[in-house]
Amino acid sequence: MTLSDLINRTSPPVPFLEGDNIPWHEPAFSQRMLKEHLSQDHDLASRRSHKIDKQVQWINQELLSSKPAKILELACGPGLYTNRLAALGHECVGIDYSPASIAHASEHAKQDSLACTYLQQDIREADYGKGFRLVMLIYGQLNVFTSSHAQKILTKAHAALADNALLILEPHTFSAVEKIGNQGPSWYSAESGLFSDKPHLCLEEHFWDAPSQTAAIRFFIIDVATAAVFSGIKPCGKSVALLAKPSLVQSNVCRL
Ligand SMILES: C[S@@+](CC[C@H](N)C(=O)[O-])C[C@H]1O[C@@H](n2cnc3c(N)ncnc32)[C@H](O)[C@@H]1O
Repeated sequence: MTLSDLINRTSPPVPFLEGDNIPWHEPAFSQRMLKEHLSQDHDLASRRSHKIDKQVQWINQELLSSKPAKILELACGPGLYTNRLAALGHECVGIDYSPASIAHASEHAKQDSLACTYLQQDIREADYGKGFRLVMLIYGQLNVFTSSHAQKILTKAHAALADNALLILEPHTFSAVEKIGNQGPSWYSAESGLFSDKPHLCLEEHFWDAPSQTAAIRFFIIDVATAAVFSGIKPCGKSVALLAKPSLVQSNVCRL
């Protein structure tokens, strides 16, 4: 992609046409993203440890009465919840398609001999298994899927639950999604960062599609040395993160 492609871009983008998420599953991108998950300076990719500790304690004590349970976390990232829950005696399965996150989660589970199984798979396609006392999908991840994928995920999650089991969903609120969509454009320069190891510019624009109630964030990453504009699913690429209808998930919300 060149600078003139950027000038001639489609604006506003058609929801979900240019891509359906940032490239979490790309090896180099996922390695860089892992640093953000583990950072104690912000809560952007995962919450900071002290917050996760409190939430895990709440899940264990309030939801599970501290009784050993079989738990499934969808989009588990680097296993920050599942490894903690397993350390409290639960048996956990985590599914995520980020290779660096799954490697991190598995290594820690192995080191600490935790009862955790990690699967590097896309939760839209993965087989979830059965008999879980708790299934969780947190931190706004349900919002990033198209309506049909969100329905598919919820149907599979429902089938994976045992009788009298619990589902924790933590979607973004409507106002949070709308606010993302209505932010103005912005840019920054960096020596290296989430989207590239090299000096680059990141141009970001936000869109709000009122009819479909969908927000979109479009990134263009421009390499400073070559002025190349990276696109598609390449680790430095332009990506579109789309947050789907909040109305899908209004019921059975358990806020953490
Ligand atoms: C914001 S992070 C949250 C991770 C974890 N739940 C936490 O709070 O630490 C979102 C996670 O969703 C994962 N993800 C996004 N789409 C996915 C998909 N289709 N299949 C599997 N994982 C996905 C990403 O790889 C990433 O690890």
